[in-house]
Amino acid sequence: MTLNIELLETSFAQLQAQKAEFTNSFYSTLFADYPQVKPLFKSTDMDEQAQKLFASLILVVNNLKKSDVLTNALEGLGTRHVKYRVLPEHYPLVGGTLIKSMATTLKDKWTPEYEQAWVDAYGAITEIMLAGTEYSPTILNPESV
Ligand code: HEM
Repeated sequence: MTLNIELLETSFAQLQAQKAEFTNSFYSTLFADYPQVKPLFKSTDMDEQAQKLFASLILVVNNLKKSDVLTNALEGLGTRHVKYRVLPEHYPLVGGTLIKSMATTLKDKWTPEYEQAWVDAYGAITEIMLAGTEYSPTILNPESV
């Protein structure tokens, strides 16, 4: 997939200028829209988590042209998320919320072109994160045990 690097960089530079607003909006929207994911973060320091999430987005945007660096980092991140009990079906919830929060944060500056660029980028990120993961049937379907 060809990602629109220019639009991703421009929009992300604008988001960096409103980082606190964006990260606060992200987690409050996520938990309001999808309360089912809240328990995953029950022992998490949410201020620290917001910093880490933002740092990982910086890493993605800075390495859009270096696919080997990106793939290595995202595969590792995907593997760790299995341990955090994150399931494949959680990914679209987080992706939709990320984009919703970006739009809420940037208001009039947000455009349909930005939205498309991030939908494509999040799809690619998810694909790489999940490519390195192995979900055992018991994790995916605990009732079957
Ligand atoms: C683009 C996709 C995602 C990115 C870039 C991302 C980024 C991160 C980062 C950087 C961390 C810090 C720990 C580490 O580096 O291993 C983390 C932890 C975590 N993420 Fe994600 N994440 C993504 C998707 C998700 C999804 C879909 C969920 C499910 C709701 C989720 C839930 C968690 C949880 C529960 C933790 C552990 C928090 C703790 O340490 O207590 N993440 N994520």
